[in-house]
This record gives sequence, structure tokens and C-alpha cells, in this order.
Amino acid sequence: MSADPSSPHRIDGLIAVVTGAAQGLGLAIAEQLARDGAAVIIADRQEDKAQEVAGQLRAHGLNVQSTSLDVADSAGVAAFFDRVVRDHGRLDILVNNAGVGQAILPVVDLSDEEWDRVLRVTLTGTFYCCRTAGRVMERQESGCIVNIASINGQNPAALVAAYNVAKAGVINLTKTLALELAPYGVRVNAVSPGPVYTEFNRSNMLQRSRSLNITEEEMIERVRKAIPLGRWGEPIDIARGVAFLCSPAAGWITGEVLRVSGGLEGVSASPPKRAKRQ
Ligand SMILES: NC(=O)c1ccc[n+]([C@@H]2O[C@H](COP(=O)([O-])OP(=O)(O)OC[C@H]3O[C@@H](n4cnc5c(N)ncnc54)[C@H](O)[C@@H]3O)[C@@H](O)[C@H]2O)c1
Repeated sequence: MSADPSSPHRIDGLIAVVTGAAQGLGLAIAEQLARDGAAVIIADRQEDKAQEVAGQLRAHGLNVQSTSLDVADSAGVAAFFDRVVRDHGRLDILVNNAGVGQAILPVVDLSDEEWDRVLRVTLTGTFYCCRTAGRVMERQESGCIVNIASINGQNPAALVAAYNVAKAGVINLTKTLALELAPYGVRVNAVSPGPVYTEFNRSNMLQRSRSLNITEEEMIERVRKAIPLGRWGEPIDIARGVAFLCSPAAGWITGEVLRVSGGLEGVSASPPKRAKRQ
């Protein structure tokens, strides 16, 4: 069945950048935006993998390119968006999806390095991309940004404070930028995903199951039971939420945080008490 070109969900011909899209949620988002009609640039620090998946999507008739980008490199981010505007003449959609998880540790054991590593990519990288793309979109007086936050940014989970704080910052940045760019007709929203079993969460589940002394399978089932809709999310669930916010169907929505989590608001369980330190 061919797509209805008059559908308010179509974004034909728009230029979209998705960061961290060589795998996981970002890849599903890039594919969905391309299926909805956009020309998509996958920007990821895994250059080879980004090239490979872009090639696979092109083989399915989708308009997808790839480039190497480290969102935590301020000068690199500025040069990248300059290139996008030079090559395509404009930038219509930015999805800030690149983010890193945190080693499962209580605040009292969190090192300076781990705190900085998580904040640098997940929050500061999002800021660098928002700042540069925001300048382009302000000038154009059009465009839309979707930042990938997390339910942890709204309701923190124990043992991942740096990640919680980074995502809370992403939500706050989203709302601030939405106010600042609204006079230019630029919309800025966030999507807060619940648990999806990507590589990111695979490592998360493994570490959490070890910290609770249960098997990984038991951990995965525990999470599933906590989700009101009774299943883990799939990347496509998140991609559809993002694609909606990027489309004309969301034309009067800005500064919003859309939770896509099967109804899960957060996990507020306390970890078991640890053995006394010597
Ligand atoms: N999977 C989940 O359950 C879940 C839940 C809530 C939020 N999220 C968020 O969704 C986003 C994607 O998560 P995912 O599960 O697909 O993770 P993932 O680890 O599978 O993929 C992340 C991608 O980001 C890229 N990346 C990492 N650092 C980068 C950098 N500095 N510059 C450019 N690219 C970089 C990686 O190369 C990778 O391709 C993240 O922001 C994550 O915090 C995920």
C-alpha cells in the first residue's frame, strides 16, 4: 500500500539528522523518519556501523546517509551542522538520541570520571547539538527538535544518578529551548522511553541482576511485570512517538515530554543494604 501524501504524518523531502543512530532506538527512529519521507542523516561515533546500516536502509529504497560524529566534541558538532546546511541548504529535523548509560553504582561510590563521562555525552552533547541546530532553525524560522530523554529523567531510579541527572537536564533544556525558539516557529519536544532491550539495556540488566543476586532472565521478567501494558518496549514503539512529534500532526505541540513506556512512570525500588565498609 503506498503512503497517502496528504497525511499529516508525512514529512516528504525534509532534511533530518538523528544522532547515535547506528543501532538501537536511533536506528529505528532514522528508519521511521525515512519511511515517512525524510532524507535522513545518521550521525554516530561508530562510523563503520553507521555506514553499514545506512547502506542497508538505502537498499530498501530509503533516503539515508551516514556520517561520523561525536556529539561531545563541540567544534566537531559545529562543523557537522555547517556541512549539513552547505550540502542540503537547510535542516528541518534534529533528533538528539545519542546517550550513554552509567555503571550501576550508588552515589557514594560514583567516581568523578564516571559522572563526567555520562554527563558529557548525554547532557552536554545534546546541548551542543541543540545550540548549533537551534541557530540554523532560528534563522530559517522553521524546524523541529526531539530530544530523547528517559523515564529516569522524570522519576529517578536508584544506582544511576549521573544518568538520571543527565536526562532530567535534557528535559529542562528541551523546555527552555522550546520557549526560546517558539517565536521563530521552531518546535522542541522530548520523548521519554521506558525499557527497550537494546545493547544499552542489555548491559544495564546484566549489572542490575548481579547487584540483586538474581539471574538476568529474572531481572528482565521483574521489569516486564512492572510495566502496566505487560511487555518491554520495541524500538519501533519509540520511533513512532518521535515521528509523530516531528510531523505536521504535532504542529501545535512544543515544550512537551511524551512518555512512551507502556505506562511505566519509573522504578522507585531501593537497593538492598550493602555489607558494612571497613
Ligand atoms: N533502551 C532503553 O531502554 C532506553 C530507555 C530510555 C532512554 N533511552 C535513551 O535512548 C537513547 C538510545 O539508547 P539505545 O538503547 O538505543 O542505546 P545504544 O547504546 O544501543 O545506542 C546508542 C548509540 O549512540 C551512539 N553514541 C554514543 N555516544 C555517542 C557520541 N558521543 N556521539 C555520537 N554517537 C554516540 C552509540 O555509538 C550507539 O550507536 C539514549 O539516549 C538512551 O539514554 C534508552
